[in-house]
Amino acid sequence: AKIKYIEFDRTEHVVEVANGENLMEGALGNNVPGIDGDCGGNAACATCHCYVGDDWLAATGPRSDSEEAMLELADGMTANSRLACQIIASDAIDGIELRLPETQH
Ligand code: FES
Repeated sequence: AKIKYIEFDRTEHVVEVANGENLMEGALGNNVPGIDGDCGGNAACATCHCYVGDDWLAATGPRSDSEEAMLELADGMTANSRLACQIIASDAIDGIELRLPETQH
């Protein structure tokens, strides 16, 4: 799927992430700055915090309880907040836009 990552300074990175990979791995694998993924994708660090574009909230589905709990510890949580490691690339989210927070800039 094509994923657009938008850094806090508005630098855009449009990359191809293989379906089945999560969007934290997709950022790391494509050298997109602004996502660290310190816990390896276990919803346990919140260094992959991102903001899903309004048009894509339905397609990405609800947060899990553990994801929600971790996001509550992150700075700047909003209704659009997700952990990138908990979003899996698929055709359903082809073209998605993710903004990255200032804390990860
Ligand atoms: Fe740690 Fe996503 S990589 S919460």
